[in-house]
Amino acid sequence: MENNVLLEVKNLKKCFDVGGRKVLTAVDNVSFYVRKGETLGVVGESGCGKSTTGKTIMHLIPATSGQIIYDGQDITHMDRKEYLAFTRKAQMIFQDPYASLDSRMTAGDIIAEGMTIHGMYNAKERKERVYELLNTVGLNKEHASRFVHEFSGGQRQRIGIARALAIGPEFIVCDEPISALDVSIQAQVINLLLELQESHKLTYLFIAHDLSIVRHVSDRVAVMYLGAVVELAESNELYENQLHPYTRALLSAIPIADPQVTRAKQRILLEGDVPSPIDVGAGCKFAGRCSMCKQICHEEAPQLRDVGGGHYVACHMI
Ligand SMILES: Nc1ncnc2c1ncn2[C@@H]1O[C@H](COP(=O)(O)OP(=O)(O)O)[C@@H](O)[C@H]1O
Ligand code: SF4
Ligand SMILES: [Mg+2]
Repeated sequence: MENNVLLEVKNLKKCFDVGGRKVLTAVDNVSFYVRKGETLGVVGESGCGKSTTGKTIMHLIPATSGQIIYDGQDITHMDRKEYLAFTRKAQMIFQDPYASLDSRMTAGDIIAEGMTIHGMYNAKERKERVYELLNTVGLNKEHASRFVHEFSGGQRQRIGIARALAIGPEFIVCDEPISALDVSIQAQVINLLLELQESHKLTYLFIAHDLSIVRHVSDRVAVMYLGAVVELAESNELYENQLHPYTRALLSAIPIADPQVTRAKQRILLEGDVPSPIDVGAGCKFAGRCSMCKQICHEEAPQLRDVGGGHYVACHMI
């Protein structure tokens, strides 16, 4: 393992009890690491376990099993004091800027909340810091006294970003930070996140279902399918030399601006629906939709392994 790793998850598993002795495995044996200062993108269709992975890392929900290591320390189990210390270093930006901010609070109170919890600064300094943060995210001090419901979606997401930045974190889980926003302002928020990464030396776990955005922001990308990471590689490598049948199908679905390239590129259609994550059997989770499927795929779950140069794939046929 490299020594510049900030976060590592090992065999992370999160199961939900969904009644009638049924178990939904939202995150199944996920392992990856994030280097200091890099962006690891996480992509996959809706319901594949991206948010659950992020929330489990952030301890918003408890892991069923596995290990979470942050800056060399095992943080899988933390007491209240340790958790508080962790939240000074790690923060999360949520997908839905409408649901994730309390509409009865002012923007200023939302941004200041973390500083108050951590006993940072006196009241006057906190106010100044709120103004500074509003400025950083492209809003201004007049916005501090306004209630959340008075803002547009894009402005709310900026408040969510200011809240995450307030206590000076080093690591941020960005959970689909632009998917609820109008296309016209998505680029602005992405650019803001990229600028902040540069100026604040941030490390991101960047979750998205849109592959083209992930490519744009990520150094490396992990592709998830039904709770498992099926492929992980450097961004360019993944886009130019994807190996897993699922990644290939996902990538072939991205529209390409150049019509000649589109014609040359064979589109692979995914057959069938994503199966239910409840009581999944042994074997490869992609087996039911995979054109390369063989007998062993139904019997044994393929393990994620390095096929060279940090390109990881979980497939029996590769
Ligand atoms: N609290 C919960 N209780 C039961 N099932 C859940 C819960 N949260 C998420 N799930 C299920 O876990 C799976 C993964 O969900 P999620 O992590 O939200 O996916 P994604 O973020 O990739 O869209 C889905 O099948 C979802 O329905
Ligand atoms: S392990 Fe088998 S079913 Fe799964 S992706 Fe590879 S070839 Fe397809
Ligand atoms: Mg999600």
